Amino acid sequence: MRTLTLVLSAAALVAIQVLTPTVAAQGSSTAGGGTQAPVAQTPAAPAQTTPTAPAAPAGAAPGATPVMLFAATMKGLMVDLIFPTSNALFYVSREEPKNGVEWAQLELTFLTLAESANVLMAAPRARDQGQWMDDARLLLNVGVKAYRNAKAKNYNALVELNDELYESCQSCHVHYRPGYRRRP
Ligand code: HEC
Repeated sequence: MRTLTLVLSAAALVAIQVLTPTVAAQGSSTAGGGTQAPVAQTPAAPAQTTPTAPAAPAGAAPGATPVMLFAATMKGLMVDLIFPTSNALFYVSREEPKNGVEWAQLELTFLTLAESANVLMAAPRARDQGQWMDDARLLLNVGVKAYRNAKAKNYNALVELNDELYESCQSCHVHYRPGYRRRP
């Protein structure tokens, strides 16, 4: 599959860029006559690294791009992550959550939906830095509203997000989904 190959080779490129300085640093510490502390004992990453970032490989240069390991293709993300989580919002009007457990389930689902927009925006998944980001941000915005309204148990506000959600999918699909046409 062509898209998959592209994504994989882009990931491999990132991996090479991250690993190269490590190899060079280890090489120079050996050449230094063994008086230096081994590179592996220096902290791998500065403490201020964001906690959500994947752990850098031991000894990676501070600030190096973390290696992104993707679990799914774009199609897989749509079908297995974004479609089911957005359906929970599209069809929220069918039944109001009855108890804390059902509200918590919606919270979890809408948090996942909102954050999935960031997954779409991650390099090298992002198709460009302009229209793609704008379209993904529409999904982020509506997802964040859904998450907050679920937390506040604001049912009517959730029901009212339907059009905004629909528009967020539609906008990106018109621009980037092969063969997709806007419904009249
Ligand atoms: C930022 C862009 C973007 C956003 C936002 C987006 N999609 Fe997609 N979607 C795509 C792309 C690109 C494809 C084509 C993927 C492919 O075939 O490789 C796609 C394809 C799909 C598919 C078809 C998958 C298949 O079987 O081929 C479904 C279903 C889908 N999206 C659902 C959604 C829903 C629901 C939303 C909104 C909640 C959404 N998407 C938001 C980019 C986006």
